[in-house]
Amino acid sequence: MQRLVVLISGRGSNMEALARAGLAAEIALVISSDPDATGLERAKRLGLPTQVLDHREYESRDDFDAALGDAIATRDPDLVALAGFMRILTPAFVARFEGKLLNIHPSLLPAFPGLRTHDRALEEGVRVHGCTVHFVTPDLDHGPIVIQAAVPVLEGDTGETLADRVLAEEHRIYPQAIRWFLSGRVRLASGRVVFREPPPAGAAVLYSPGLDN
Ligand code: GRF
Repeated sequence: MQRLVVLISGRGSNMEALARAGLAAEIALVISSDPDATGLERAKRLGLPTQVLDHREYESRDDFDAALGDAIATRDPDLVALAGFMRILTPAFVARFEGKLLNIHPSLLPAFPGLRTHDRALEEGVRVHGCTVHFVTPDLDHGPIVIQAAVPVLEGDTGETLADRVLAEEHRIYPQAIRWFLSGRVRLASGRVVFREPPPAGAAVLYSPGLDN
């Protein structure tokens, strides 16, 4: 069976969605960069092995990433899934697992990389928002895109209501992207996403507003 390592720093709802998705892979390890992450409890409840690598205990980013890489390598995973992992990764780490690192980001990249994506979307007044699964490159929240889901921004939305709408889509598209990866349907080649066969019809669903005229 193929093996997955999941990296978290917080709540772990995407990790749980992956655990419950019936993937053709076992989650061989959940690593948290924060000992207080509530996702650790979730992982234990799901019966998943966990490990804490507290980034504050490392002198440098290089030291932390080397230890993180070594912890991951003990499981020899087919894929490393970042799921709310709040650390910027060094180029050396990204190179070590090149083509095997996926991330989920709560915006339609390249719009709104970084933090507070939902509040920023509301501040900008965008009408459509969403989430993105992408391969990881050394640039924060950039990288070849595998799948995106769009949601409408509705009148009266707050950061929380918008985040909830996006999160429901995150929990759908992250398992989908990983299924494609594990089956060899999608891979990274020369820095680009390559599909062995086109994504099925309906993999991209356009959100189209109703018009009043
Ligand atoms: C998600 O919105 C994810 O896209 C972002 O951080 C959040 C993590 O949520 N990278 P959870 O820990 O998976 O619940």
